[in-house]
Amino acid sequence: MEVTLTAIKADIGSIGGHVAPSKAVIARVGEAVDEGGKGLIIDRFIGHTGDDIAILLTHDRGTKDERIHRLAWDAFQEGTTVAKRQGLYGAGQDLLSDAFSGNIHGLGPAVAELRFNERPNEPFLMFTADKTEPGAYNLPLYLAFADPMYNTGLILSPAVGRGFTFTVMDVENLDGDRVIELSTPEEAYDLAALLRDNGRFVVESIRSRAAAAASADEQAVSCCTTRLRNIAGRYVGKDDPVMLVRTQKNFPATGEVLGPFGIGHFVAGFMRGSHVGPLMPVKAGTGVSFFDGPPIVSCLAFSLREGKLTEPCDVFDHPYWDWVRENVARKAHDIRAQGFSGAAMLPYADLEYGGITERMNKLDKRFCIR
Ligand code: 13P
Ligand code: 13P
Ligand code: MG
Ligand code: MG
Repeated sequence: MEVTLTAIKADIGSIGGHVAPSKAVIARVGEAVDEGGKGLIIDRFIGHTGDDIAILLTHDRGTKDERIHRLAWDAFQEGTTVAKRQGLYGAGQDLLSDAFSGNIHGLGPAVAELRFNERPNEPFLMFTADKTEPGAYNLPLYLAFADPMYNTGLILSPAVGRGFTFTVMDVENLDGDRVIELSTPEEAYDLAALLRDNGRFVVESIRSRAAAAASADEQAVSCCTTRLRNIAGRYVGKDDPVMLVRTQKNFPATGEVLGPFGIGHFVAGFMRGSHVGPLMPVKAGTGVSFFDGPPIVSCLAFSLREGKLTEPCDVFDHPYWDWVRENVARKAHDIRAQGFSGAAMLPYADLEYGGITERMNKLDKRFCIR
């Protein structure tokens, strides 16, 4: 059976600043999906990471489907009404357009979609991150899909060892979607040269070369590439990306995809979207705290049969990840100890707040040549 997974994620308001959405808002979003989704969707899951709500829908209508996207948009609008009534902070924050048109791309919410013929057993992962940008997934994806030091499946499994084709987007190109395809292992260094720049080059999708050779469905990864700043023209919150990853057989195993998240690598985001902090893998439904962070990512594993979802399995809810979280907390503390200095904050071009530009312009006029 051909099925489509659609994950759409938005910040429509949260309690106590940018911490977490209220139960009432999450419930309203769920009700609205159920009311509007009758006869349209097969199944759904609603969850939150930090202050963002994720809607996962299964259906048979393909990607970028107007009715599916509108369902999520309308549900977020309904949730926003509740958020406003409750006085939540940033109610409707990520809904950047007054009206829905066509599909939800470019309107604010983060989107990841996969369309495929369901395998007899169909495991997949939904990653949702808060207080960071889409490029935060670059390193874990590179390590899981192209580096045998992290994914030994690349040398153990003939199918995985055939390599992968990455589609990478230049997210700072404002005239349209500028993309490049690179295949590993041959072009691994070219890929690394792009993916080192998380703010500019972002993995949009990854396809299995073994599956392509066997004319099977090949797409393993769909990652959101939305830059809110480029849509809104100003800082309205960080992008907080969502990603879907199919696992096993032609694709890396679930544990191989999760492994690189043990690094807690430094990413852009954190307080006011203007800092550098380590990405902490957290349990689903975790809010943020220290310095509006640290940047967090959660991951739910599902299986699928005829479009029906199993209950999710929270893969970062395990004693191993408690140890990782302690290490990442230490890294977060260490970089925050140097405050505004050097690597702790983003370079000027990436600072998300206009205020510093105004301050620098003012100071510039006071400089004199001696
Ligand atoms: P305000 O300037 O509205 O307080 O926003 C700050 C912010 O949202 C960063 O946390
Ligand atoms: P969000 O993008 O998660 O709303 O965070 C905004 C912010 O500025 C936090 O300090
Ligand atoms: Mg917010
Ligand atoms: Mg957020």
